[in-house]
Amino acid sequence: MAWKNRSPLQMCRLLVVISFLPSKTTSSVLTVNGKAENYTLETQPGVYESLECTVHNHTGDEELLWYREKDRIDLKPINKINSSSVCVSSISEDDNGVSFTCKLQSDQTVSISVVLNVTYPPSLSGDNFRTAEEDSDVDLVCSVKSNPQAQMMWYKNNSALVLEKSRHRIQQTRESFQLSITKVKKSDQGTYSCIASSPLKIETMDFQLVVSDKSTPVPTEAIIAACVVVFLTLCFGLFARRERMMKLCIKKKDPDRDTAL
Ligand SMILES: *[C@@H]1O[C@H](CO)[C@@H](O)[C@H](O)[C@H]1NC(C)=O
Ligand SMILES: *[C@@H]1O[C@H](CO)[C@@H](O)[C@H](O)[C@H]1NC(C)=O
Ligand SMILES: *[C@@H]1O[C@H](CO)[C@@H](O)[C@H](O)[C@H]1NC(C)=O
Ligand SMILES: *[C@@H]1O[C@H](CO)[C@@H](O)[C@H](O)[C@H]1NC(C)=O
Ligand SMILES: *[C@@H]1O[C@H](CO)[C@@H](O)[C@H](O)[C@H]1NC(C)=O
Repeated sequence: MAWKNRSPLQMCRLLVVISFLPSKTTSSVLTVNGKAENYTLETQPGVYESLECTVHNHTGDEELLWYREKDRIDLKPINKINSSSVCVSSISEDDNGVSFTCKLQSDQTVSISVVLNVTYPPSLSGDNFRTAEEDSDVDLVCSVKSNPQAQMMWYKNNSALVLEKSRHRIQQTRESFQLSITKVKKSDQGTYSCIASSPLKIETMDFQLVVSDKSTPVPTEAIIAACVVVFLTLCFGLFARRERMMKLCIKKKDPDRDTAL
C-alpha cells in the first residue's frame, strides 16, 4: 500500500496540506464599523455603542450572525442580510472584556470580533474607622475598582507610609489593597490614606486607626473561684428557704388535716 511506504514526516506533511484545504472558497470579508480586523473598543460605563457588521465582496444575499461571547444574539429578520447592527446598551463596568463577534452564516470561519475595554476612574471603599487594642493585629482593607488598574499607595498622616518589615505587610490583588499591622503600638494611631492613581483620576480614601489601651488581663482562676462561691451561696440560701417554706406548708396543711379527720 502507498500509505505504508510513507515516512511519518511525509504523513505529517500530507495532514498539514489536507487541514489547510479550504472547505469552501469564499472571498467575502466582514467589517465592523468600517474596520476589517478584530479590534478593542474603548468605552465608558453608561454609554451606548452601536456595532455594524457588513459583508463585502459577496455575490448573493449573505446572512450574518452576532454573538455576545458564546451566545447568539437574536436579530430581527430585517437586520440579518448583508449588514447587521447590534446596540450594546448602557454599558457597565462588568462588560469590560466582553467580546462581540459577527459571523457569516454560510461560512462561520469568516468572523470578526470586537472586545470592549470599559474604562473608568478608581473607586475606593472599605471599613474606614478601626479601633484596635494595643499589641493586637489589624488589617486595613481598601477595596478598589478601576480600569486601567490603578497604582496603589498607603500614606500615614499625609506622608508616605514608612514600612517596617517586621510589622507591616502589604497585599495587593486586582480588587483590593491591604495593609496589615502586627502588634499595633500607640504610635500607629492616625490617618491612613489609601491612594489610587490612574491616568483618569487620583482617588483617596482615609482610614482612621485608633489604638486603645491594652485591657488588663483578668485572672480566669479568680473568676471561676468567685463564680463557685456565688453558686454555692445561692444553693445554701435556697436550701435554707426551702426548709422554711416546707415548714410553712406543713403548718398550713395541719388545720385542714384537723377538719378532715
Ligand atoms: C474579492 O474577491 C476576489 C476574488 O473572488 C479576491 O481576489 C479579492 O481579494 C477579494 N477582495 C477582498 C477585499 O477580499
Ligand atoms: C478575529 O479573531 C478570530 C479568532 O481569534 C479569527 O478566527 C478571525 O479570523 C479574526 N478575524 C479577523 C478579521 O481578523
Ligand atoms: C445583498 O448583497 C447582494 C450582493 O451585493 C445583493 O445582490 C442583494 O440584493 C443584497 N441583499 C439585500 C437584502 O440587500
Ligand atoms: C483599555 O484602555 C486603557 C486606557 O486607554 C488602557 O490603558 C488599557 O491597556 C486598555 N486595556 C486593554 C485590555 O486593552
Ligand atoms: C498621626 O496623627 C495622629 C492624630 O492626629 C497622632 O496621634 C499620631 O501620633 C500621628 N502619628 C505620626 C506618626 O505622626
